[in-house]
Amino acid sequence: MPTSVIAVANQKGGVGKTTTSINLAASLASQGKSVLLVDLDPQANATSGLGVEKREGGSVYEALVGDALLSDQIVRTVYENLSIIPGEVNLCGAEIDLPRMEDCLHRLQGALHSVRMANVYDIIMIDCPPSLGSLTLNAFVASDSLVVPIQCEYYALEGISMVQRLIDQVRNSGDNPGLHIMGIVMTMYDGRTRLSQQVLDEVREHFAEIIFETTIPRATRLAEAPSHGQPSLVYDPDGLGTAAYDVLATELIQRLTVASAEPVAEVPTPDNVVDAAALQNPEPVQNQA
Ligand SMILES: Nc1ncnc2c1ncn2[C@@H]1O[C@H](COP(=O)(O)OP(=O)(O)OP(=O)(O)O)[C@@H](O)[C@H]1O
Ligand SMILES: [Mg+2]
Repeated sequence: MPTSVIAVANQKGGVGKTTTSINLAASLASQGKSVLLVDLDPQANATSGLGVEKREGGSVYEALVGDALLSDQIVRTVYENLSIIPGEVNLCGAEIDLPRMEDCLHRLQGALHSVRMANVYDIIMIDCPPSLGSLTLNAFVASDSLVVPIQCEYYALEGISMVQRLIDQVRNSGDNPGLHIMGIVMTMYDGRTRLSQQVLDEVREHFAEIIFETTIPRATRLAEAPSHGQPSLVYDPDGLGTAAYDVLATELIQRLTVASAEPVAEVPTPDNVVDAAALQNPEPVQNQA
């Protein structure tokens, strides 16, 4: 399977992007996929949620706005098959710096190119910030597809229509003609409320083809796990939230397998492929939890 780049995005804040990025990445890794999680959010919640230390100069920032090699920023987590490029508050600066750059929309795509071509990772997952600014646009251009978490609440459809509009814009501009939504994942589903069911029904009606079958329940332990620096499958291995993300990972792999069986456009010859062995053995980090 060629490396697939997937952005977890929704401009709406607090809908479960980071919770999904962490737990989906961890479940994919536990199912044998080699995963690189890119924390593109200055809040760096995915980084701390995996117990990884934030370091100044240790994010995608330098590679985005300068010539630093992204592969140098990869750190191995204590979890098998799971590496991360941490986030840091400096990433805020990228929202100001990027628009001034010539190829401002393609900076992340360019920086990820060599990592991607080394084919060490099955999946590169990008946790996007809650905005439709330069960082998120860069993620849209660099990605093959999007996973869009939607919280089971009012205004859920508004969020998705804005994401769809941005996808159309990125496709039509020619910046990434192949970009598509791999799936919508409904988060924080509470079976005791009518609202959750109504929102789920409504999104299913509008997006029957792309909504994931798996719905993520509202689960206190999913919210607690990051403060222990652990993905849910470590913090709460038998929990409902853990089980849901595990099934979601299986569903995502199925979709990727189907997609990779379809004919794809020719990939340009890499000009700066990094040493695959070096990527396989980045410096391990200590879990801070
Ligand atoms: N399924 C869930 N059950 C219970 N709490 C959840 C669930 N998913 C997320 N949360 C909690 O909701 C809050 C927002 O989640 P999260 O940080 O994943 O959203 P986000 O979209 O990444 O937010 P931001 O837009 O700020 O990056 C967090 O406190 C998180 O712990
Ligand atoms: Mg987040």
